[in-house]
Amino acid sequence: MACPARPTVKTGTLHAGNMESIVLFGPPGAGKGTQAQRIMESTGLPQISTGDMLRASVAAGTQTGIEAKKFMDAGQLVPDEVIIALIRERLLEDDASNGVMFDGFPRTIPQAEALSRITKVSHVIAIEVPDERIVERICGRYTCGDCSAVYHDTFNPTAVEGVCDVCGSSNFKRRADDNEDTVLSRLGAYHQQTSPLADWYDNQGIFHRINGDRAIDEITEDILSALD
Ligand code: AP5
Ligand code: MG
Ligand code: ZN
Repeated sequence: MACPARPTVKTGTLHAGNMESIVLFGPPGAGKGTQAQRIMESTGLPQISTGDMLRASVAAGTQTGIEAKKFMDAGQLVPDEVIIALIRERLLEDDASNGVMFDGFPRTIPQAEALSRITKVSHVIAIEVPDERIVERICGRYTCGDCSAVYHDTFNPTAVEGVCDVCGSSNFKRRADDNEDTVLSRLGAYHQQTSPLADWYDNQGIFHRINGDRAIDEITEDILSALD
């Protein structure tokens, strides 16, 4: 059987080479996307979410999207080489020149090793939430289809029902992988393949544990202190 085509890697300057980047780390539903949007406002660092990039590739019907979709729908990690190629391409963009904030990347030791060859990571912020909280968070999530703001039916609804607080849109979406079965697979993948990275980064002295089972504002405050 022929190998599926892999995305090609553009050549050019990897802007992130000369600066320091931040990693937001944690299980599905920990609040990585929620906090990334707030930290972006305070630090100016652009959010690079591999999950958002993959969903955009799926929606656009690209080869990467077609290949990634079967893993995402099953709640499994997309192969490292696909993710690393996406990241390398993203870091060619001009807004990556002063540092970036990775959301949901790296998720395996090979991804972290590849990242260490591209850019220096200054802080890994681990948002810790007990497993029993995850399903209720994921199953109540909805996002703005226009600006990607993240909401929750109970824990973080829009101020005005049906209207995005950030951009005023009424175009809300729920993710295809936000159902209980897939969440349990995603959680399994997190514990088996991603959580070993905690020791890997802890050994480098850049790992910050943040209690993510609190009010959203308190968590943001702690993350900003850790970044000081
Ligand atoms: P991805 O999109 O990264 O999903 P995930 O890691 O499962 O994380 P989520 O986006 O579900 O959660 P979050 O931590 O961002 O939480 P959020 O802020 O939305 O990845 C999806 C898939 O893509 C993966 O399964 C995999 O297949 C693939 N993939 C992506 N990156 C990959 C990689 N590097 N390698 C391989 N495969 C990759 O919050 C969740 C909900 O909780 C929201 O409703 C929010 O309003 C609410 N909430 C947030 N904070 C709080 C709080 N403090 N209290 C109460 N509710 C809260
Ligand atoms: Mg997210
Ligand atoms: Zn919006």
